[in-house]
Amino acid sequence: RSNGLAQTPPVGWSSWNNFGDDINEQIVIETIDAMIANGMRDAGYVFVNLDDGWQRYKGARRDHPLEFDPKKFPRGISYLADYAHQRGMKLGIYSGPGQTTCAGYTGSEGHEAEDARMFANWGVDHLKYDSCCSHREAPKEELQKIFRTMSNALMTQKHGIVLHACHCGWGDIWEWAAGLGVNHWRIGQDISDDFNYPGNREQYYFDVLDQLDRGVGLEKYAGPGHWNDYDMLIVGLDGQSKQLVGTGASNIEYRTHFSLWAMVSSPMLVGADVRKLDQYSLETLTNKEIVALNQDPAGNIAHKVRDDGDLEVFARELADGSHAVLLLNRGAATATMTFSPRADLQAPMDRYSIRDLWKHRDLGTYDIPFTTEVQSHEARVFRIRQLATSANGRSVSDAAEQEL
Ligand code: DGJ
Repeated sequence: RSNGLAQTPPVGWSSWNNFGDDINEQIVIETIDAMIANGMRDAGYVFVNLDDGWQRYKGARRDHPLEFDPKKFPRGISYLADYAHQRGMKLGIYSGPGQTTCAGYTGSEGHEAEDARMFANWGVDHLKYDSCCSHREAPKEELQKIFRTMSNALMTQKHGIVLHACHCGWGDIWEWAAGLGVNHWRIGQDISDDFNYPGNREQYYFDVLDQLDRGVGLEKYAGPGHWNDYDMLIVGLDGQSKQLVGTGASNIEYRTHFSLWAMVSSPMLVGADVRKLDQYSLETLTNKEIVALNQDPAGNIAHKVRDDGDLEVFARELADGSHAVLLLNRGAATATMTFSPRADLQAPMDRYSIRDLWKHRDLGTYDIPFTTEVQSHEARVFRIRQLATSANGRSVSDAAEQEL
């Protein structure tokens, strides 16, 4: 069963990582305006998602209705959905299958059909349905039931609503969620604002490399319409988040994080306050060549094709037959890394062109492995295209160039 949505991963913004439940109408409007003014919308960031904290009441659903908080959202949620739609964007909302949500607000338990109808009437385009607090220990059958119930309720609405199952990667959710019509599911616990912080994983939080490692082996479960979700982006948080633990990461580390999320086609929801993004973060997020990898229609998830201690190579084939290649240096010192299409892609590329997607530069034509420097915690990202070779061994594109 599929709702046909999210053929490419949702890309946009979510309120949680920076604001926690301290959100309101003004923040959402200013966020939308900022995403238009700073180029994010045009780079593909169209989802503006409210996370936990939009609801009026704290406490059990049996004691309170589910309503928006009129103090935080004086003009209501439909006003914001309209505001987003008029500007070519989409609005997301949040609930959970329990009596309460993680932050203690009323959940949807027992009112799924009614809530789905309310969200649809408001014009909402995306629902994050968060079970990781209320159903942490629930058996698989129960989890399947709660997501099936909400998925079915959403699918009976007049317009499509993307469904995100937030269950922190428990219950082997990747094995069964797509079959229920879920469009993305978290593969791990909450991200922390760290690239690689020793001990986080034990303390519940997963830093960037933890999330990345968690995804290894899960690639086969993702594809158009159903994605592994490595959690929201931390680019630009700089250790200032009110909500996440973590001391922040360097510019290079945030860029590496972003490149990795693009390579594995995770949903990419920016968690930072986009009204105040610094220039480097903005350049990172609006690199359209990297976003294009995330949004590639073939939806092939990058696999780790080489693992030499701290040096790793990830690759994926794109819809046009070219390949995206990422060279990751987890180590503390700059390293020289080599990439060989023949060995690493197992593709017989005798002649190939390389483009550096961060330098936005074509690096030329190669017929030997490609060697480059990668700084500590850096990821270099390239797009590689095989060049057709004619019978006499001369590359067709060379011939074409000569004719010009
Ligand atoms: C837990 C989720 O993992 C977070 O992303 C966030 O949605 C909070 N719940 C909200 O309470």
